[in-house]
Amino acid sequence: MLEAVQTDPPLLKQMSALPTLRLLTCGSVDDGKSTLIGRLLYEQSLILDDQLAALERDSRRHGTDGDNIDFALLVDGLEAEREQGITIDVAYRYVSTPRRSFIIADTPGHEQYTRNMATGASGADLAILLVDARKGLLTQTCRHAAIVSLTGIRHVVLAVNKIDLTGFDREGFDKIVAAFKSFAAALDFKTIMPIPVSARHGDNISAKSANTPWYSGPALLDYLETIDVTEDGGGRPFRFAVQWVNRPHLDFRGFSGTIASGTIRPGDEIIVAGSGRSSRIARIVTADGDLASATAGDSVTLTLEDELDIARGDILCEPKNRPEVSDQFAAHLIWMSGDKLLPRRSYLMKAGTRTVPATVTELRHRLDVNTLGELPAKTLSLNEVGFCNIATTAPIAFDPYKENHTTGAFILIDRMTNETAAAGMIAYGLRRAANIHLQGLSVGKQDRSRIKHHKPAVVWFTGLSGSGKSTIANLVETRLYAHGVHTILLDGDNIRHGLNKDLGFTELDRVENIRRIGEVAKLMTEAGLIVLCSFISPFRAERAMVRDLVGKDEFIEIFVDTPLAECIARDPKGLYKKAMAGEIENFTGITQSYEPPEAPEIIVARNTQTAEQAAAQIVALLTARGLIDRIEDLADDWSI
Ligand code: ADX
Repeated sequence: MLEAVQTDPPLLKQMSALPTLRLLTCGSVDDGKSTLIGRLLYEQSLILDDQLAALERDSRRHGTDGDNIDFALLVDGLEAEREQGITIDVAYRYVSTPRRSFIIADTPGHEQYTRNMATGASGADLAILLVDARKGLLTQTCRHAAIVSLTGIRHVVLAVNKIDLTGFDREGFDKIVAAFKSFAAALDFKTIMPIPVSARHGDNISAKSANTPWYSGPALLDYLETIDVTEDGGGRPFRFAVQWVNRPHLDFRGFSGTIASGTIRPGDEIIVAGSGRSSRIARIVTADGDLASATAGDSVTLTLEDELDIARGDILCEPKNRPEVSDQFAAHLIWMSGDKLLPRRSYLMKAGTRTVPATVTELRHRLDVNTLGELPAKTLSLNEVGFCNIATTAPIAFDPYKENHTTGAFILIDRMTNETAAAGMIAYGLRRAANIHLQGLSVGKQDRSRIKHHKPAVVWFTGLSGSGKSTIANLVETRLYAHGVHTILLDGDNIRHGLNKDLGFTELDRVENIRRIGEVAKLMTEAGLIVLCSFISPFRAERAMVRDLVGKDEFIEIFVDTPLAECIARDPKGLYKKAMAGEIENFTGITQSYEPPEAPEIIVARNTQTAEQAAAQIVALLTARGLIDRIEDLADDWSI
């Protein structure tokens, strides 16, 4: 799903003939994930002598196990985490025994590291979920089990660790196993193997322990060496996401990328998922020469028999089994950002090699990780898991995640910070949009604009309540009106009496407020008007969204930058007084934030500029942009 940085040690090449098991460890902090892996490596003599010497030294310095070797130190590679005693990144270990080779993702258990957990979970065949025998199932255990299941891992080892600390108590073990099995009944696991272990002392790790005579199952290593994780269902359909168009000279045009699933040979017919155009594979080119066939995981350059219009992000597929193409779908989200999900906000969705703007149009429910129940929710916070409807601005090709972990996965990116906000897994497409096509109209925006003798635009005023936005907007409109310019003024207080009377002032409602106003403003530019919008519009993301929506050539942002202290002093509606007395919630500047624009077209500093001067500057900009004709008597009118 997510790409993780992996090294490719020489050992792996030697091992590649053996069946490899990809596994990850997860569970709560202190459940012993790193100790377990360290113990496995140690018992299999996979630790080099110099590593062992360093380990003994470090165990004395940082260890939590007296003079004994602290195996967690072996795995917790980073100095910072040694000092905090927690694992903070995904580390991959390549391990081989005579019977099998393993790629182990050691994922962290600390609350805020669910992101790494989801990263490590992608691509694994099996998860070792650790539970402290003394504590039993914790919220974190359940959360990790749910994420493991969501990311498509079908096999789980429930390692009930620190069993020595309960005196190898069978009853306690049985209780934890029963609780987990009943919890996991709603999850999609194929096998669940409970094993009582002591990672620190080595019980049931490489060999069966005499301390648990009541346990009849295998030791952990034995189980890992023998479990069959091959999925039935046979070959998956061919999917290839074009990463770049390789055109070194005029005679060669190839499409480079990695085969997500399936197999391809020269001569095979392919379809471009979005356009439905078809061709045949001419060559499969690699640095080591052409191939007779290529399969999932291979990085290749494909050339086609016909010249098709193909760009980065397109998906090539086989004709008989195509991915769905839609701009709306239902998906699971694992929220990874400290900033909450705001439905209706525009995020960037990166699916494979394609990036498109996307919004969560509806949050259907949030998962209660302890009960796996569905809770109604308005937002998702860090580490929460939800199910939602998503709409993209352009159709994308995808498969349900259950069918294809590569073409069914995506991430959401915060457009302002560029951080990954969520990992997502597509459940199914919503086909509604397929039946709604834009109607072609005979009279266009340009035609309407022509008979008005000026061009349309949105002049967007943003700033604190009481900053003077509406006063300036009103002056501008009066002036334009006097000169025959067709205008409309949309104002926060007025719109909230009608169209948006169902909205309040929570962050969520403000996002929706601006989204609707953006759409209305756009429609009015279609009518050929100059639309003056006066809204606090406190968030950069929504202002950026409206700018995108109407187009940057027709969007002029005016930041009325009156200092908060002055707005409070003016307090034209007495609202600041009430907000500071706690009588109004979520008041901008007092109990909710205002994000000033980074690059507005005009900044009005109201303590140095009069409203008239500001209005004149705005009208002058409209003229300079060629939106309206020159208004000659401007200076006279306002005596400036
Ligand atoms: S916005 O943030 O969603 O853009 P909008 O401009 O529509 O706000 O409405 C702001 C107006 O609503 C303010 O000028 C003020 O008169 C009124 N108002 C009432 N409650 C609040 C509040 N909690 N925060 C800000 N403005 C409020």
